[in-house]
Amino acid sequence: MIQADLREPDGILHHAKVRQVIDFDQPLGVLLVAILHHLTDEEDPGGVVARLGDAVVPGSYVAISHGTADINPQAAQKAAQRFAQARTAAPYVARPRARIEEFFEGLELLEPGLVQPPSWRPDGPVTVDLGLVSFYAGLGRKP
Ligand SMILES: C[S@@+](CC[C@H](N)C(=O)[O-])C[C@H]1O[C@@H](n2cnc3c(N)ncnc32)[C@H](O)[C@@H]1O
Repeated sequence: MIQADLREPDGILHHAKVRQVIDFDQPLGVLLVAILHHLTDEEDPGGVVARLGDAVVPGSYVAISHGTADINPQAAQKAAQRFAQARTAAPYVARPRARIEEFFEGLELLEPGLVQPPSWRPDGPVTVDLGLVSFYAGLGRKP
């Protein structure tokens, strides 16, 4: 594990320990789980995903989960307030589905597309209340 700032993806990609343990000539899985919503638009989360996507070979996968206000705007507003009040440098930026889908530009977005996490290839019937799940998740493959 390394400590690094996602807003500076080259610091991650060129980190000596990363290069020591990860073979960038092999297909990789990049997991951006519940993190891109901590980057503001000015911090260019789409550019960060693109940079990480550029660094991996075709056949690699990029998984993204991201908070949204589409499902429950009040809950999203409360979450943003909590992050703003907490003693943390990370903001919370809920984004609409279409905006999150843009992060997959240049990747093949695999079925079932960008959906709430419990609906992403469930093993059985979805029993959770999707009205309480203010998230989208998707998996992209680098062609
Ligand atoms: C909701 S947690 C998700 C953690 C993990 N991906 C998971 O699913 O268990 C968000 C994490 O993003 C980290 N984080 C926020 N902004 C970051 C940044 N600019 N660079 C690196 N990590 C960041 C926070 O410290 C926190 O650990």
